[in-house]
Amino acid sequence: MRLLVTGGAGFIGANFCHHLARTTDHTITVVDKLTYAGNRANLEGIDAQRLTFVEADVTDAPTVTRLAEASDVIVHFAAESHNDNSLREPRPFVDSNLLGTFTLLEAARHTGTRLHHISTDEVYGDLELDDPQRFTEETAYNPSSPYSATKAGSDMLVRAWVRSFGVQATISNCSNNYGPYQHIEKFIPRQITNILIGRRPKLYGAGLNVRDWIHTEDHSSAVLAILERGRIGETYLIGADGEKTNLEVMRAILSLMGQDPDAFDHVTDRPGHDLRYAIDATKLREELGWVPAFRDFEAGLAATIDWYRDHESWWREAKEATEAAYARRGQ
Ligand code: NAD
Ligand code: TYD
Repeated sequence: MRLLVTGGAGFIGANFCHHLARTTDHTITVVDKLTYAGNRANLEGIDAQRLTFVEADVTDAPTVTRLAEASDVIVHFAAESHNDNSLREPRPFVDSNLLGTFTLLEAARHTGTRLHHISTDEVYGDLELDDPQRFTEETAYNPSSPYSATKAGSDMLVRAWVRSFGVQATISNCSNNYGPYQHIEKFIPRQITNILIGRRPKLYGAGLNVRDWIHTEDHSSAVLAILERGRIGETYLIGADGEKTNLEVMRAILSLMGQDPDAFDHVTDRPGHDLRYAIDATKLREELGWVPAFRDFEAGLAATIDWYRDHESWWREAKEATEAAYARRGQ
């Protein structure tokens, strides 16, 4: 197949391209605007015969339509992805997440190309800590932040284009990813790189919020399973039973890096901070036979720490500016 991967220079998109290059014969065209979160170097190591890179905005309809025409499937990762940024400046989230998805859907409609839309469990809002139910494909949408609201809106556009125009689309909503190439503004890489430069890690509030961690390799294999065996028009939730409090993750990072597990600072909490996300991936597992490979969170975290230690040149330049932006918000 000829795959068009939007946002393929970002964290999850780049990991997906490496996964495709290793496990399939598909050819890959990446379209990416190279925002602060996109990095062309994330795709280094993929055979140039298999990969074409196009620097463009997914709201650029003529470019996107031309690329869709030359592809069998669009896998749509491109988005503004950080909640904290969406609280500070929501506009780029509306542009990239809503108008970007709209533009791709129109391209899919006019060219007949299949589209797989990458979304998040954050569209469902949050759960109480003791809620016995986890998110399923039937959970009502209830987004909290500008980020999750624009992702929820983009999912709704996909559903409408399937029903009204017969666009051949699928959606997946995944939980929090970790692994290599994640921007250092995000929780896990921020703490790892803080420790590497001798700065104390920063925990929002009391750290009792729960996230359901999945290794990005498992996200990639799940998306591939949906491309190969998923039913058109369906939504699949992706998760690997990885619920942990932020406090637990913080202490695990410090311990794995040989530090006192309590050597971190509590900082100003995020406004509207979602309490808990948790995914029930029964449909994906039972219908498509998908199983996660990275079941040992501590081992995955240790490998991720090694990656950041070994790739200081990849993150060092962005570190000061990222921390200065957090410091301005008391975080
Ligand atoms: P990221 O911020 O690391 O990467 C996003 C990429 O999209 C970047 O390369 C950026 O340059 C590109 N991009 C942004 N706007 C664009 C535009 N208008 N046109 C073209 N390219 C554009 O994000 P990520 O963490 O890799 O997330 C990828 C996708 O996965 C997003 O749709 C996100 O909502 C979803 N998701 C992320 C997580 C997570 O834990 N990070 C979990 C579930 C779902
Ligand atoms: P983040 O990586 O921003 O992902 P999301 O908001 O999509 O879940 O944050 C993960 C969790 O970690 C979230 O509960 C906020 C918290 N957090 C901190 O405690 N400290 C930090 O420095 C950051 C960036 C996040």
